Amino acid sequence: MNRCQESELLDRDGVPDAQAARAYQDLTRIHRYLGDTRLIVGALRRDPLPVRRVLDVGCGHGGVLADVRKQLGVEVVGVDVKSPGVRHGSIPIIQADATRDPLPMADVAFSMYLGHHLSDDGLVALIRNVGRSCRRFILLDLVRHRLPLALFRLFVAPLASPIVAIDGRISIRRSYTGSELECLVGKALAGSASRSRHSIAPLWIRQVADISYAQD
Ligand SMILES: C[S@@+](CC[C@H](N)C(=O)[O-])C[C@H]1O[C@@H](n2cnc3c(N)ncnc32)[C@H](O)[C@@H]1O
Repeated sequence: MNRCQESELLDRDGVPDAQAARAYQDLTRIHRYLGDTRLIVGALRRDPLPVRRVLDVGCGHGGVLADVRKQLGVEVVGVDVKSPGVRHGSIPIIQADATRDPLPMADVAFSMYLGHHLSDDGLVALIRNVGRSCRRFILLDLVRHRLPLALFRLFVAPLASPIVAIDGRISIRRSYTGSELECLVGKALAGSASRSRHSIAPLWIRQVADISYAQD
């Protein structure tokens, strides 16, 4: 399967606020059911250094950040290229392009389902840019593979909002394979002492690049 270049409905202009809000709520629930949120919370808990402030890059309406704050009691901040029409409670969200704009300082950053929105060069730029404001970046994304695509069609799409049902299929076909992501992370960190661990979950339901930036 080649990487598809189609844009997602949520990325387009003119999506009514209520439909966008429903789609982001669905995404937050999907992250809970698939264990993505648990993975991030667990990784933050096990971090050997103090984690006081957490940044979600490409946070949408901040639903996952609200879950992280509730479970860990840490300070949270989100960044998204789009201004959130609706936001989760009091989650602070800054509008910025995470590939090039200055990002808020935090101990650890994470991103969910953001990487596949970017070109190869955009992803490399994102990884380098996050390293200017955080010491660790947990990049979680989908995997381009036939099995998660089939599972999504069968078990998730029928229960999701129309936007998520359509965007989910595009997202998986637009994602990086494990080796493509590993290669781009390697390119972003080349020449530095920064390190990354890459893992793929069973059934290819997600991949994670856990990046620790070298501290100057
Ligand atoms: C599929 S949504 C995922 C939202 C949220 N992370 C989640 O998983 O529930 C991808 C988000 O990334 C944002 N995004 C795309 N490109 C971005 C960029 N260059 N900088 C910051 N955010 C970006 C989009 O606006 C969108 O809200």
